[in-house]
Amino acid sequence: PSNAMWGGRFAGGPSEIMEAINASIGFDQRLAAQDIAGSRAHAAMLAAQGILTDKDAEAIREGLLTVLSEIEAGTFRFSTKLEDIHMNVEARLIELIGEAGRRLHTGRSRNDQVATDFRLWVREQCDAAITSIEALQEALLTQAEQGADWVMPGFTHLQTAQPVTWGHHMLAYVEMLARDKSRFSDARARMNECPLGAAALAGTSFPIDREATARALGFDRPMANSLDAVSDRDFALDFLGASSILAMHLSRLSEELVIWSSAQFRFVVMSDRFSTGSSIMPQKKNPDAAELIRAKIGRIFGAQTALLMVMKGLPLAYSKDMQEDKEQVFDAADTVMLSLAAMEGMISDLTANPDALRAAAGHGFSTATDLADWLVREAGLPFRDAHHVTGTLVARAEAKGCDLPDLSLEEMQEVHGAITVSIFDVLGVDNSVASRTSYGGTAPANVRAQIARWKEKLG
Ligand code: ARG
Repeated sequence: PSNAMWGGRFAGGPSEIMEAINASIGFDQRLAAQDIAGSRAHAAMLAAQGILTDKDAEAIREGLLTVLSEIEAGTFRFSTKLEDIHMNVEARLIELIGEAGRRLHTGRSRNDQVATDFRLWVREQCDAAITSIEALQEALLTQAEQGADWVMPGFTHLQTAQPVTWGHHMLAYVEMLARDKSRFSDARARMNECPLGAAALAGTSFPIDREATARALGFDRPMANSLDAVSDRDFALDFLGASSILAMHLSRLSEELVIWSSAQFRFVVMSDRFSTGSSIMPQKKNPDAAELIRAKIGRIFGAQTALLMVMKGLPLAYSKDMQEDKEQVFDAADTVMLSLAAMEGMISDLTANPDALRAAAGHGFSTATDLADWLVREAGLPFRDAHHVTGTLVARAEAKGCDLPDLSLEEMQEVHGAITVSIFDVLGVDNSVASRTSYGGTAPANVRAQIARWKEKLG
């Protein structure tokens, strides 16, 4: 028996292997709600244009609602023989309402249908990502607020660099996430044009109203070129691009949580809710959620590469290759949402250890730059000379096994005669951060102002 939807010109049916490679229903059933929304908009428009009778359109509307409720109730029987979600829904509609159901596909192709469904789905994911990013920003902001002036080491090369504040470090991620959010909203705005009505590739001879279907589905306008409408998946790549960059940020934060929660750092304690134990080592509390976010990110980068590979060699317009777009995007979207939720949970539950932060901030000659700046400001040395003098003092302290403030005034003066006792004022970590008042710097006053700005922004 040949296919009920397209079998007219076929004498025989497909082999089982053909069915297996061809079917997408195993995954594209996730587009059911979008498919039914698209069909409802299409049918209503066909009736408004006099292409369908109102009676048929009403039967289709009711039938589609029944199909939707069957799918939601889990009673719908998906069939691999019917390939994909579009044919599964349509076949059931025909089963339910007969002849009228057979008229639904007038002036439409699965090519514009799938492009529309998928756009609707990805658009929703952009909105969901934005909401989750905001929740994470709020968690970071709460952390920033409670530790606006907690001093901690800032690193470069993961070597102690200069003291910064906990609040400043948290706000760095709030800023990154704001750009991530804007990438999703840019992507959303760009993808918000409707492919429906492009039909197979060339448009249709029926007097359809593409403005109406675009509007009904919440799109800004119909896509202007039918070939483009059915054959690009750049909107999904935009989503994966935004997801990849977000994921990269989440992975860096995860990495910091892994380092910070180690016994060697003790900067933070992860909550029990977001840690796991070891089956052999009773003392262990492992930051598994952070590690998994760091690792799962690979799926998102992989999805982006995979879809670029699928698309890069395709002549216009539709090719079946494009069916391979969905699993990658579904998996990446699931990973983004789960990672965001896990990160939000970890950050909300996180207990920072201000004493450990402060102790670490004072080690590793973290105020050497302050010392060099003092030499420039108070003794008039050119910065390069001040840098050299300070380097010599660091070497002395290192040889003695002490920190910079532990050197005596005499020892310092041996290295440079212009040094006076007031140099000790700038060697403390609080002094160091308080002095970083340049715009965007780590001074607690700056940080508090930024927190206030973000609180207002995030409402
Ligand atoms: N399942 C197909 C996909 O996901 C739907 C479009 C099929 N179109 C076609 N001309 N075979 O791409």
